[in-house]
Formats: sequence, C-alpha cells, structure tokens
Amino acid sequence: MAKMFNLINHPLIQHKLTFMRNEDTPTDNFRRLLREIAQMLVYEATRDLPTELIPIRTPLTEMLSPVISGKKLCLVSILRAGNGMLDGMLDVLPAARVGHIGLYRDPQTLEAVEYYFKVPDDIGERLVIVVDPMLATGHSATAALNRLKAAGATTLKFVCLLAAPEGVAALQSAHPDVEITAAALDERLNDHGYIMPGLGDAGDRMFGTK
Ligand code: URA
Repeated sequence: MAKMFNLINHPLIQHKLTFMRNEDTPTDNFRRLLREIAQMLVYEATRDLPTELIPIRTPLTEMLSPVISGKKLCLVSILRAGNGMLDGMLDVLPAARVGHIGLYRDPQTLEAVEYYFKVPDDIGERLVIVVDPMLATGHSATAALNRLKAAGATTLKFVCLLAAPEGVAALQSAHPDVEITAAALDERLNDHGYIMPGLGDAGDRMFGTK
C-alpha cells in the first residue's frame, strides 16, 4: 500500500496560498510566501523524526532532553522551482545537506529530461526530502526519485506546495514507499499539464521570468 498523502490544510498555509494563487501577487510577495509555507511544510514533513534523550544541565538542574537522532537529512531541490522552497526549509533545518536535480519538461511529451545531478556522496545514509512546488503529471518527481534511488538513496519523502490528483496517483504508483506532503490537492491538470486552478508556472512567478 502507498505511504501517506499528507495534506497540510492549516489556516495559515491556506491563507498564504490564496495570495500565491492570485495572479496580481507580485514576484517579491510570491517568493516570500513560498518560503514561509515551505517552513511550515517541512515542519510537518519531519514530524515523525526519531529523537533520543541526552543529558544536559539547565541553569537550575540536570535533565534528560530530546534531540533528533537517526539519519541525517538531505534536501534535494528539483530545479529550478524547487529552490524557492529550499530556502524556507533551510531556515528550519540549517544543518541539512543539499542536492540539486535539473529536470526540464519536454513540451511535447511532458516527460522529464535530466540536465544536472549533484547530491552528497553519502546520500544512502540520509533521509532525503525532495522538493518541488508543483506535483503535476508526476513525471519530474518520479524521474527524480528514480535517479536518487539509483544513486543509493533508500529513505525518501516528497514535499510540494500544490498537487494534482494525476500526479499523486502517478508518484504513489511508481514510488509507494515515499510519503507525499502538500499544502493543497487541486482539481485536475489542463491539456498543457498545468495544475487547475493552480497558480500558473511556479518558476516564472517566483523568478519573474514572464
Ligand atoms: N509546473 C508549474 O509551474 N505549474 C503547473 O501548474 C504545473 C507544473
């Protein structure tokens, strides 16, 4: 059975997402909102991290207090739009290692084509959190996870802002072991592979390229 689809419909996230969807929201606000939502999404996506108790001294007494244990983290951004979420996640997880996968969508087939791949050598020992704001057809996410598993990654999660039902189904069928966290599940894809109602092209909106 596929791992959980983790829909984070917190009022703060939904409020910020409304402004991201609005076509009148300028680039600087769009980028800031994405960063803020990414902070909250990674907070939820890491809710099940194991902890262990370590002895410390407060100014008043000794105590056993929890710290994160287990696998170290690696965030992997699917370029270029993933970088907009990466910044917010690194605000919360400043010590995480970072990998990048460059994929573009072939406009005819909508299939993912790789042009860049760089991840830490010890990716196999890390919990890998793959980020891309838009889970649309699922082709890029599936290709990224295939590539990461081929490079040795064994424990992976996927975090996005918006998901289409088609993308969730495709990703869960290709990678049932990977939990998906999203801020919203939209209605459908249009004929060009865009999420409806969506927010348009996430990369263009965050970098102001259109
Ligand atoms: N990528 C985007 O940026 N937007 C979509 O709606 C789908 C894929």
